[in-house]
Amino acid sequence: MKALILVGGFGTRLRPLTLSVPKPLVEFANKPMILHQIEALKAVGVTEVVLAINYQPEVMLTFLKEFETKVGIKITCSQETEPMGTAGPLALARDKLIDGSGEPFFVLNSDVISEYPFKEMIEFHKAHGGEASIMVTKVDEPSKYGVVVMEETTGQVDKFVEKPKLFVGNKINAGIYLLNPSVLDRIELRPTSIEKEVFPKIAAEKKLYAMVLPGFWMDIGQPRDYITGLRLYLDSLRKKASTKLATGPHIVGNVLVHESAKIGEGCLIGPDVAIGPGCVVEAGVRLSRCTVMRGVRIKKHACISSSIIGWHSTVGQWARVENMTILGEDVHVCDEIYSNGGVVLPHKEIKSSILKPEIVM
Ligand code: GDD
Ligand code: MG
Repeated sequence: MKALILVGGFGTRLRPLTLSVPKPLVEFANKPMILHQIEALKAVGVTEVVLAINYQPEVMLTFLKEFETKVGIKITCSQETEPMGTAGPLALARDKLIDGSGEPFFVLNSDVISEYPFKEMIEFHKAHGGEASIMVTKVDEPSKYGVVVMEETTGQVDKFVEKPKLFVGNKINAGIYLLNPSVLDRIELRPTSIEKEVFPKIAAEKKLYAMVLPGFWMDIGQPRDYITGLRLYLDSLRKKASTKLATGPHIVGNVLVHESAKIGEGCLIGPDVAIGPGCVVEAGVRLSRCTVMRGVRIKKHACISSSIIGWHSTVGQWARVENMTILGEDVHVCDEIYSNGGVVLPHKEIKSSILKPEIVM
């Protein structure tokens, strides 16, 4: 089986992290986002993943070539010369996706995180006999997404409306599809949207089916959702593989600590924290609901909550960093500084407090 991951877009909503690496390579729970997807695809028998890219393909490919052998899966690239939207890239990669077997292929948005119930999806797809399957999930704010109106018992989709202005329902497109090769005959080689131009037509012919995704789901393409996504992911890890989570008197709730990270005396860490490789957390530090990327140093008695600390940054002693503060790569926060929602570009030094949410350039 094959899969295509839509890796376009500049990831502007996840800046400043995406100023250093393309969004799919930003670590989530100590692993690049896209690797969570590739590993889950491999687990259900996918042998080749096509990355549909329109931005920085060299960086992505160099990185993923390394994982090709580690994960044991073929990774190829289909590069656009102009942004082709969410359907155009499928037409462009047509020859890579069709192998004559007639088997369906997966398509994923690169920024969605879940337990990836691909096996259940294959069974669902085989059982309904339609042309395309999509995963849906319930959310509180459906207007940000593609909304799906479906028949509850069969899953047959009546209507697909992308970013509706008026309420049509609260089940939304989770960005995970399984498509028959015939869907490619519906897509022209031009910039086009699968949500606006392809799915509504398949739905009108009653050949589009939706399956409610079991377990958690999150689009982690923006900081707030990224932090919420980490909580949901760690909750699910607790149920499935709790031995991967840290334990000890200084740990509260679900916490992931890379084996090469060092934690000092008298820290209190958690809930919902991920600490990356090579980090040094000095004595008496308090961390909750945050991600600390590779190579960060957090000095004595600093306190960090609801924030993301970018690669190789340092947070000074007694500093307080909170409320969706996002530090880019190699940022240095001086001792005793307070950051309330500061979004700090890479390589900056913060010498005075950031009292309200703002971008520091
Ligand atoms: N190759 C390529 N080329 N990929 C693209 C392009 C492009 O021109 N434009 C967007 N993408 C990729 C993005 O990188 C992302 O992985 C995916 O297509 C969806 O684009 P987003 O920009 O993240 O869309 P969204 O989050 O507003 O909405 C989409 O996702 C929702 C779920 O998170 C839609 O699919 C909605 O229907 C859905 O509910
Ligand atoms: Mg998105």
